[in-house]
Amino acid sequence: MRAEGLGGAVGLSHLFLRRTVVPGDGVIDATCGTGRDTLFLARLVGSKGRVWAFDVQDGAMDAATDLLRDAGCLDRVSLVRAGHERIAEHVSGPVRAVAFNLGFLPGGGRGTVTRPETTLAALEQAEALLLPGGVITIAVYTGHPGGAEEGRRVEEWAAGLSPRRFNTWRSSQLNRSESAPYLVLVEKLH
Ligand SMILES: C[S@@+](CC[C@H](N)C(=O)[O-])C[C@H]1O[C@@H](n2cnc3c(N)ncnc32)[C@H](O)[C@@H]1O
Repeated sequence: MRAEGLGGAVGLSHLFLRRTVVPGDGVIDATCGTGRDTLFLARLVGSKGRVWAFDVQDGAMDAATDLLRDAGCLDRVSLVRAGHERIAEHVSGPVRAVAFNLGFLPGGGRGTVTRPETTLAALEQAEALLLPGGVITIAVYTGHPGGAEEGRRVEEWAAGLSPRRFNTWRSSQLNRSESAPYLVLVEKLH
């Protein structure tokens, strides 16, 4: 029998999110896209929890709305049509997890892509909102123009976090191409 497996960087991020998020939590999907990760998070937080999901593309948000409504989870999600660099304007309470899935929306054209400056601004705001024990997952894509530079900046940011307050990792697949997506994980200790 063929095992389902962990998958790539996003699958691995789900493993850590599943371990960390409990029903009733507040969490953020910083790159909602068509809503697959948002739905995953909405199921983890349950009917008493809340997901704030950010994206800058109307089409993606419309698709996410349909997906969440069909799954019966729309009521626990705040879909924010704004860049994640504005997280602090929209989310006031502490959150258990923040998920980033960087790059462009597959099938949605490469015109709208995450960028280092806004990604870094969002990461800093996400860290400030994160509860002790909470995690930030960042799936990084380097196969498009600007992706490698964005990855480098994300790693530099994570590497600069105090080891007394954070654990940070980079996890890449050894039997995939150099440009395969990889995961940066940040765990806040206190
Ligand atoms: C790889 S896709 C995300 C896929 C999504 N998690 C899913 O499950 O379908 C990256 C997304 O980031 C969005 N994006 C680009 N810049 C952004 C920004 N500044 N703030 C929030 N989202 C942004 C794009 O519109 C795109 O939908």
